[in-house]
Order: sequence, then structure tokens, then C-alpha cells
Amino acid sequence: MDAPRKIEADPAFRHDVLQGFAAAIPAVPARWLYDRRGSELFEEITGLPEYYPTRTERALLERHSADVARIAGTGAAVVEFGSGSSAKTPLLLRAVEPSAYVGIDISGEFLRESTAALQDEFPALPVHPVEADFMRPIELPPQLRRAAKLGFFPGSTIGNLVAATAVDLLRAMKNTLGSGAWLLIGMDRRKDVEVLLRAYDDAAGLTAEFNLNLLHRINSELDGTIPVEAFQHRAIWNDMLSRIEMHLEAVRNVTFTVAGERFTFQAGETIHTENSHKYGLRDARLLLKAGGWAVREEWPDEQDQFALILAQAEAPRVAP
Ligand code: AVJ
Repeated sequence: MDAPRKIEADPAFRHDVLQGFAAAIPAVPARWLYDRRGSELFEEITGLPEYYPTRTERALLERHSADVARIAGTGAAVVEFGSGSSAKTPLLLRAVEPSAYVGIDISGEFLRESTAALQDEFPALPVHPVEADFMRPIELPPQLRRAAKLGFFPGSTIGNLVAATAVDLLRAMKNTLGSGAWLLIGMDRRKDVEVLLRAYDDAAGLTAEFNLNLLHRINSELDGTIPVEAFQHRAIWNDMLSRIEMHLEAVRNVTFTVAGERFTFQAGETIHTENSHKYGLRDARLLLKAGGWAVREEWPDEQDQFALILAQAEAPRVAP
């Protein structure tokens, strides 16, 4: 009998981990947190009392989806970037009555399940799952080429990216969606540091589990020998860069191998695993503008914790 087949390791994952662990400031790109288990854990995080972004954005969508339809119109193809569980998507779809829905996500299995659930809820809607890393150019289904587009990028996922990468992504979205397209984006605001720290280091320990899951994933997919209990979750506010950082901190000196390569961390050294940038009103406008999008409307909540922003792809124009 054949030996059980090992899951083929993603060469990009292997590359990012080996290079990231060997770097002067060790770091692994945040997208590798979102394997099946990681995506499930993040979904659980969204229900935590400390994690205000999801419920705040949901309330904003309930309140303002009709405004989006009024300004951006109905009947467009809705293209969601990093659709994940698509939990908030029906709120928007009911208001904008789309001609089609495209969900783009890096976690294929998760994507297929959530788009299937969406299809059940909207039986007449053409639904297209696209398994892709939305940082790369995306080929939309050819039948949508001529349709008006409404991009949807909720959850403050843009906050994962440093400014230069966020601008690259916004420009790529503009290329994917075409000029004149609309973009509804959720962005988390700067706020009281204690509120932020609690949201990224919850009492139940789910965020810690989410962060540490990266090490379990490395062990199982990249033949790692990391003693996971030698690391602890740390959430830090970096004020200069206006972001929450997640790190995995070695609690003792530790040596292990990944894909046959040896790594040593001293107690207190960290692996940087995620950034979550927080934007003021003008920061958000400037970022979108730099990416080729003009803000048309902004809807923050009463406590200014989070904002939904509706922007439109700008036509190329000369500037003085
Ligand atoms: C999915 C990137 C929006 O930054 O708030 C939540 C991820 N990480 N808790 C965020 C996350 C830890 C989340 N985003």
C-alpha cells in the first residue's frame, strides 16, 4: 500500500518562512495566518466582545447600504476582495441588487463554502468564486467584462498592508475593476490604545491561538520542529507607524528546524506576524487618493471607531 500522501507544501509559503525567519527582523507575511484553521479562528475573533471592528462595520452596512445604492447605483457586478466568510456581504447585496457577485479569497476551501452559502441565499444571482491572492492581477470572469463594477473590501483588511503595498493594491484593484468603478472599503480608525490592545489580545485567548496557529501550520506543512509552547502572543501599539503589531515572542532560548534549515531564537526575540494599520479620516482619503480612488462619501460610526468609505476610480487626468 502507498504511504499516506503528504500535503504538497506551497513553495511560496516555504520561501516566505525560510527567508522571514532568517531576516534581521524576523517576520512572516500575515496572509499565511489564514489557512483553514486560521480563517476559522479569525471568524471566532470577529464575535469577541473586545473585537469591535466587525460588529461596528456590520451596523454601518445595515445603516448605509441603501446610501451606497443611491450614490453608486444598482445592477453592478460586486467584486469582493478577501471575501472570507462573506458574512456581511448579504447586507450590501440586498441593497445594490447586483448583476453578479465575484468573491476572491486565498483560502479556496473556505471560499467555496461561503460562496455556496451566498448562492443559497441569492438563488438567481450569478456567483463566481475566484481562488486567488488579491495582491496579484486578477482575471475576472469574461462575461463580466462590460458590467459596471462595485468593489467591496470590508473588514479593514487594507490595514494589514504597509502604505506602499496598500497603494499598490488599490491601483491593482482599479486595474481589475476599470475606470469609473466604485469601491466600498472598510477602514479601522485610530483610537484609544487600551481599546486597540484589548481587541488584539482578548481575554479568552483566541487571538493568541490565531497567532500561534502559524507555528502549527509551519510544523505540519513545512516539516517544522518548532516547540510552539516556547512562543507567546504579543500585541503592540506602534504609534509612529499608527498600527497594532502582532508578534510571536520566544519565552526561552529555542532552536528548531523548518524544511531542514536550522533557526535559533533567544528569549525575548520575536517573529512579526501581522500589522493592522489604523487611519484617521484624512489619512484614509490620502491613501485612497494615492491609489487612484477619489472619496465620494464617508460613514463613520458615532464613536468614530470604524468607517465605511465609498470611493470612485479616477480617470487619468493631467495635474499641474
Ligand atoms: C482581518 C486584518 C482585518 O487586523 O483586525 C484580527 C486580523 N488579527 N485580530 C485585523 C486580525 C488579529 C484583522 N483583519
